[in-house]
Amino acid sequence: MKKISLALATASAAAIFAGSFSGSVLAEGKTVGVSWKVFQEERWKRDEAVIKGIVEAAGDTYISADAQGSAGKQLTDVESLISQGADVLLIVPFDSEAILPAVEQAAAEGIPMIAYDVQIEHPDSLYVTFDNVGVGRLMAQTMLDSGQTEGNFAFIKGDPGDPNATFLYNGIMEVLQSGIDSGAIKNVCDVFTDGWKPENAQRNMEQCLTSQNNNVDAVISENDGMAGGAVAALEAQGMAGNVPVTGQDGDLAAINRVARGTQLVSVWKDSRALGKVAAEAALMLANGTALADIPGTAPFSDGKRGVEVTSILLEPTPITKSNISAVIDAGWIDKAKACEGAQDGVDGC
Ligand code: BGC
Repeated sequence: MKKISLALATASAAAIFAGSFSGSVLAEGKTVGVSWKVFQEERWKRDEAVIKGIVEAAGDTYISADAQGSAGKQLTDVESLISQGADVLLIVPFDSEAILPAVEQAAAEGIPMIAYDVQIEHPDSLYVTFDNVGVGRLMAQTMLDSGQTEGNFAFIKGDPGDPNATFLYNGIMEVLQSGIDSGAIKNVCDVFTDGWKPENAQRNMEQCLTSQNNNVDAVISENDGMAGGAVAALEAQGMAGNVPVTGQDGDLAAINRVARGTQLVSVWKDSRALGKVAAEAALMLANGTALADIPGTAPFSDGKRGVEVTSILLEPTPITKSNISAVIDAGWIDKAKACEGAQDGVDGC
């Protein structure tokens, strides 16, 4: 597995794609079909804006469907994108196994595919994502670096049909395993959360607190939306701010919780960068470029079935109270929103 840094990905994409909108590398007059799993988290709208912008600026057509968190609907969504004439598909699978029949159909029809953010174990799909195991490692490492190296840890995992939930967990465990083995860290609650829904995460956290008589010292939540649910459960017990909570996505509310001190970290995946790499790769694929000739790729075979796919992995950035200026300076969040109610001494506020 090879990783490329965000800077390198952006730089190499820029180097390779420079001027290509008027040249022959990117397609013109093609239809790009995007199958979204859900728009529950705010990041997906940002991903979409970048992808749509690049596709349309290149003279191509953007069509899309929102599966609204239903694996069943997503199967018919993909079929419909194919019948509307998609020349290339970007799929964010809600459930990576359930989507396979639609993927097989696209492959049989020779339509190139990108598994966007979430892996599809099919050799014809290009997996474009942030390094999810790396996101998990950063969550756990930030927890240890904050001084929380022992105690009762709760793990609020994402949806079980999303391989990212497991990739994240694997990265988290890589970092925490020695503490667990030594007995310093106790895994007291370890639950998947249907649909990554904040309200389900809140319920999971409430049940965890009840089962432990509130003796929970750290919460590893696999995304920001669920961190919001976990913090609400902690809040109800007067524990918010005293128990560190992780997340990912750079949600605006989560960055603000970091500033207020109720969330320890949001691992930021600048989806504008991911959208750019994927949209440009999609336009190259639509133009007949072979998967192997897409720049910056490497083989990836860490999925459940061990299928080797071609991948592009970008590197995430942990945002804590010591580097909130990074997301402000990058134009990801405005200072007033990020810093409202911030504790003293928060970077950038
Ligand atoms: C994505 C996360 C997102 C989650 C819920 C995961 O596959 O990587 O960024 O928060 O799905 O949509």
